[in-house]
Amino acid sequence: MRKLLVAGVGVVVAVGAIALTLPRPTTAQQQAKAAEPDSVVAPRLTVADSAGLKGPKQPIFFRHDIHAGQYKIQCQYCHYSVANASEPGIPTMQTCMGCHVIVAGTDSSHRVEIKKLRDAWKDRRPVEWVRIHTLAKHAHFPHNRHLKALGPNACSTCHGDVARMPQVFKVNNVNNMGFCISCHVERKVNRDCTACHY
Ligand code: HEC
Ligand code: HEC
Ligand code: HEC
Ligand code: HEC
Ligand code: HEC
Repeated sequence: MRKLLVAGVGVVVAVGAIALTLPRPTTAQQQAKAAEPDSVVAPRLTVADSAGLKGPKQPIFFRHDIHAGQYKIQCQYCHYSVANASEPGIPTMQTCMGCHVIVAGTDSSHRVEIKKLRDAWKDRRPVEWVRIHTLAKHAHFPHNRHLKALGPNACSTCHGDVARMPQVFKVNNVNNMGFCISCHVERKVNRDCTACHY
């Protein structure tokens, strides 16, 4: 969060101040620093542009290149359980509103999308994000085990450079068993069928 403060302009300072009042990260989260890309100002895009981007269109044009890229919010600030559970967790609206009660957006196209979030919050209507990576029921993938072995910045190994993505898309076909097996072979990890299938 310190980075947000250092970044400068008024709005950003406000975000930094808000963030400091949010629940403190756990030790695991503190240790697990997110992949920190260079500070790059994300391109100016409107919701109309999202149709031309890779990956499914989401109900709100939420941009990782702005949050995780430009403002360097750590992955685990939002994907809060990635280091201690199978499922990484998708942030609740409450997490978003921790900032967006104050942050209305400087750019007009941002304001339109942030208003969607605020309206949904007011109506107590959770945002229904479209899921991108999902395994069949018979296969099991524990995020926590992988982060422990591959390190907290390993997200990009499987998901690509999400911090540069205006809209998340699948970089690797995680539904292809070969994707899992090739790394398990390389790293001499358990390849019993029952490790992944039950
Ligand atoms: C401010 C909160 C926030 C931050 C920070 C954040 N994410 Fe996300 N992430 C979300 C939300 C909300 C979604 C669901 C909407 C979407 O897919 O864009 C999501 C979706 C994803 C997905 C796709 C999930 C699926 O359905 O398969 C991946 C992968 C992902 N994030 C990885 C990352 C990585 C890696 C980082 C750090 C570089 C990161 N996220 C930082 C909020 C965040
Ligand atoms: C730590 C603070 C913080 C959190 C948490 C946060 N945001 Fe943001 N968000 C920002 C800032 C800063 C901007 C840039 C505003 C601007 O300058 O226009 C922004 C911009 C946006 C925008 C407009 C640009 C874009 O990304 O499309 C949307 C929509 C948005 N946020 C949605 C969300 C959602 C949904 C969540 C929760 C999953 C969330 N935000 C969580 C700080 C935050
Ligand atoms: C070794 C590969 C690998 C690594 C490393 C990895 N993931 Fe994933 N991720 C996956 C797979 C596979 C799925 C689909 C899991 C399923 O359907 O059970 C997934 C799903 C997700 C989802 C969607 C979950 C949902 O409930 O919608 C998010 C968000 C996500 N990963 C974030 C992250 C973040 C953040 C990191 C780094 C801290 C990370 N992942 C590291 C392989 C990986
Ligand atoms: C980039 C390398 C890499 C990829 C890709 C990868 N894994 Fe792994 N996986 C590991 C490592 C390293 C471990 C060992 C973790 C440990 O020692 O706890 C592991 C452990 C596991 C375990 C625990 C095994 C046990 O001993 O009980 C499961 C289950 C698993 N992976 C499933 C998957 C699935 C399913 C996929 C594909 C969707 C996948 N992995 C992709 C590196 C990878
Ligand atoms: C490292 C994890 C892992 C191991 C070990 C593993 N699988 Fe898989 N397997 C997967 C994943 C991931 C999928 C794709 C699931 C999906 O469709 O989303 C899959 C898919 C399959 C399928 C469905 C057909 C297909 O190709 O999609 C069969 C059948 C299968 N595995 C059998 C086996 C057998 C038999 C073994 C032991 C020799 C084994 N698997 C070991 C992860 C694994």
